[in-house]
Amino acid sequence: MEVIIQSDSEKGSEIAARLIARQVREKPRSVLGLATGGTPLALYRLLARMHRGEGLDFGSVTTFNLDEYAGLAADHPASYHHFMEQNLFKHLDIPPAQRHIPDGLAKDIPAHCEAYEKAIREAGGIDLQLLGLGSDGHLGFNEPGSSLASRTRIKTLTERTRRDNRHNFSSAEEVPHHVITMGLGTITDSRMCLLLAFGKAKAHAVRLAVEGPVTASVPGSLLQFHQRAKVILDEEAASELERAGYYRWVYQNKPPWQIDL
Ligand code: GLP
Repeated sequence: MEVIIQSDSEKGSEIAARLIARQVREKPRSVLGLATGGTPLALYRLLARMHRGEGLDFGSVTTFNLDEYAGLAADHPASYHHFMEQNLFKHLDIPPAQRHIPDGLAKDIPAHCEAYEKAIREAGGIDLQLLGLGSDGHLGFNEPGSSLASRTRIKTLTERTRRDNRHNFSSAEEVPHHVITMGLGTITDSRMCLLLAFGKAKAHAVRLAVEGPVTASVPGSLLQFHQRAKVILDEEAASELERAGYYRWVYQNKPPWQIDL
């Protein structure tokens, strides 16, 4: 796991944007795993700017989003379909047929989840999976206790996550209890995992995920088993890390042949 600490979220997002741009330039038919939430917003703005200003071409890219609320239609303002359309897709040139997000209104959820897994496999697997981190350490909507081998399926949100996501809904009661999410096995099958976490509210979860034991109680800790996982943090999110000084030194002193950003 490579831990990259930057002074603020803007600088962290710039590194993430450069990584994604390089991935897409080197392999125009890349399969990207995408995330929602406040964390990737600056990154998505940067990708839109690179598309507009530098001609970064997403026309052959395929995307799979991590998750969606069960019971929400795509046009619901709090749905992840709506989020992706507003914050990324309408600014890029990815053909709609190449974008995938779990369907919150799927009639047969198990069959839908199986088809989602199959679509990922048929696309050749995910090259780069972007991830945020829940304040309880969740990845996607894999709450603490999720099987480390899980695949796309229905999950039940904890009260903490429902509270964390309350601001997107008009009332606390409206926050769904159920969601469809890629599993932890689905996520870690990706060739590269790129986790972003910014702000003080994430510091404890970051500490547990990066330096704690690997446990289903902290889904983010599973990234310690991944061969190519990068964790990009701002100073606040890194503030509880014991080895922060070491990670900074490593990043600033990479031998030239190792620099991939
Ligand atoms: C949500 C999403 C996750 C996201 C996390 C953090 O529950 N399902 O994919 O990473 O919360 O959200 P934020 O980036 O807003 O802190």
